[in-house]
Amino acid sequence: MDKLVIHGGKKLSGEVTVSGSKNASLPIFCATILASGVHEISNVPFLRDINTTIKVLESLGARVEGNGNVVRIDATDVNNVEATYDLVKTMRASVLVLGPLLARHGRARVSLPGGCAIGARPIDQHLKGLKALGADIHLAHGYVEAKAKRLKGARVNFDMPTVGGTEHLMMAAALAKGETVLENAAREPEILDLATMLNQMGAKIDGAGTDTIRITGVKELSPATYRVMPDRIEAGTFMCAAAITGGDIKIRNMQLEHLDALVFKLQDAGVEITNKDGIVRVKGPKRPKAMNIKTRPYPGFPTDMQAQFMALMCVADGASVISENIFENRFMHVSELLRFGADITIEGNTATVKGVKKLSGAPVMATDLRASASLILAGLAADNTTEVSRIYHLDRGYESIEKKLAALGADIQRVKE
Ligand code: UD1
Repeated sequence: MDKLVIHGGKKLSGEVTVSGSKNASLPIFCATILASGVHEISNVPFLRDINTTIKVLESLGARVEGNGNVVRIDATDVNNVEATYDLVKTMRASVLVLGPLLARHGRARVSLPGGCAIGARPIDQHLKGLKALGADIHLAHGYVEAKAKRLKGARVNFDMPTVGGTEHLMMAAALAKGETVLENAAREPEILDLATMLNQMGAKIDGAGTDTIRITGVKELSPATYRVMPDRIEAGTFMCAAAITGGDIKIRNMQLEHLDALVFKLQDAGVEITNKDGIVRVKGPKRPKAMNIKTRPYPGFPTDMQAQFMALMCVADGASVISENIFENRFMHVSELLRFGADITIEGNTATVKGVKKLSGAPVMATDLRASASLILAGLAADNTTEVSRIYHLDRGYESIEKKLAALGADIQRVKE
């Protein structure tokens, strides 16, 4: 198993390019099932979650070829309608093949994903939506078994804005008969990216990116050539890396407007952020000011940036209050941050972080994807040596992060444990 060894204390400088979005690529890959023919998806990041999605698609009969960051998916022979536990358990998002299989073939059998490190994460809203569209759904032996001759448009009112649920229903409704209206839909930019790709395939989707999405079903879709949006969470992580090291970096291939909630908090904390000709410059202060955050659905502060922002607050001047409102168990990085000498207390879904002047390097263990990133950030700012083990979590969602950070002047290496 690999680990990262970081000698902290280097101010980051130079330029970094953000990869394509993981969270946009995953549903976009699943959407290819909806149309027979060859799809060409570009700006795809090299990640373990992408490989898992490719394995799922191949198990269903798709032929997948990669060339650099371009992936060609031939969905013509997607004739198997079962996604097994072995594949779905390693990545929850693979459950998103259920709706497209059902829409194209009238039946599907997909393993239930189960819980994950950051919480229970049920898929009841996905299933409620598919039922509203007329699917006959049974749970048996850990699998969702779904049937429908042809899905029929309906109104779906989500109990909470769910990113995966909204994406799932958009895909299923694209081939349904009649109009579907998704109310209280999630508004994340990745949803708009998926809708843009689906519309390019011939779908009729209006309102993606708002809380009400209208989908007029069509009989057939055709394959797409599509470029995935940049990864806003990777971009946000680099912004925090510049901030925590007092660095001065330029970030290419990012859409700053996707990160408003983070940008305003960073600016209030004293970070200078400018956007010129699509290149974002981030200059960290000597010491950031403490800021309070509450994670919320988009456009609120992203839960996927909570751990990284907390690492920054560990060295802030003052105390900050961080509440996590999306997932019930998303403070696992806290006990690891304490090993750096951070001062954090947790009560329920709220963490109070009293900034310390300096963190001290320590051996720590990554517990989930974004938690891993927060430990790297702490390591970059800490004195002496930090070793982050169990970084397989990191490889699920960050493309060559250690190489990108090293190119910015960080002293960071991947070594075999
Ligand atoms: C997606 C992102 C993930 C991000 C999350 C929230 C992908 C691949 N993953 O996950 O990185 O952290 O959005 O921004 O895009 N819920 C239910 N029932 C459901 C569905 C969701 O109770 O049927 C709850 C969840 O447990 C959670 C909340 O709704 O508390 C939001 O979850 P959701 O937006 O669905 O997250 P994901 O799509 O799984």
